[in-house]
Amino acid sequence: MRKRYISSYNLIKPTIMGWFTLACTGSTLLGGCTYYDDETYFDNPTCSTLDMSYTRDIAPILDEGGCLSCHNDGFASGGVSLQGYEATKQMAVSGRLLGSIKHEDGYAWMPQGMPQLDKCYIDKVSAWIQQGALNN
Ligand code: HEC
Repeated sequence: MRKRYISSYNLIKPTIMGWFTLACTGSTLLGGCTYYDDETYFDNPTCSTLDMSYTRDIAPILDEGGCLSCHNDGFASGGVSLQGYEATKQMAVSGRLLGSIKHEDGYAWMPQGMPQLDKCYIDKVSAWIQQGALNN
């Protein structure tokens, strides 16, 4: 009778494939892979939201986003100022900042009369708030 040897590679191969699949799924969940099924992520796979800083990240987004032109201390549309940390933090902790830029029900959608902010900017503002809306 012919003896059949099962090569150790054939035994180990499915295991390796299993690990590979698990690893890939895991890193996709953690945001490590490119999202081919999501246009936004595909366009901008490197949106970093770690350690957000008010001075470095958030203030420039509100400035570039045109927010300050309608929401400064001298001209506070809707009674809302976004000039400086204290005013911005107030809007952040009340939920109105995020509600307005994410275009959530019950909030005035911002920036008014202009296209919604870049998803990466919205993610950064959201992360800054989650990280405590610090004056950093
Ligand atoms: C062209 C002027 C204009 C621009 C630009 C603008 N806003 Fe506003 N914003 C307004 C007006 C007017 C209101 C009051 C609207 C209302 O109450 O219906 C308002 C309201 C708000 C509110 C309160 C929303 C609520 O429902 O409580 C927030 C927060 C806000 N804006 C943030 C922003 C941010 C952030 C940007 C930039 C991404 C921005 N705005 C850009 C005019 C503007």
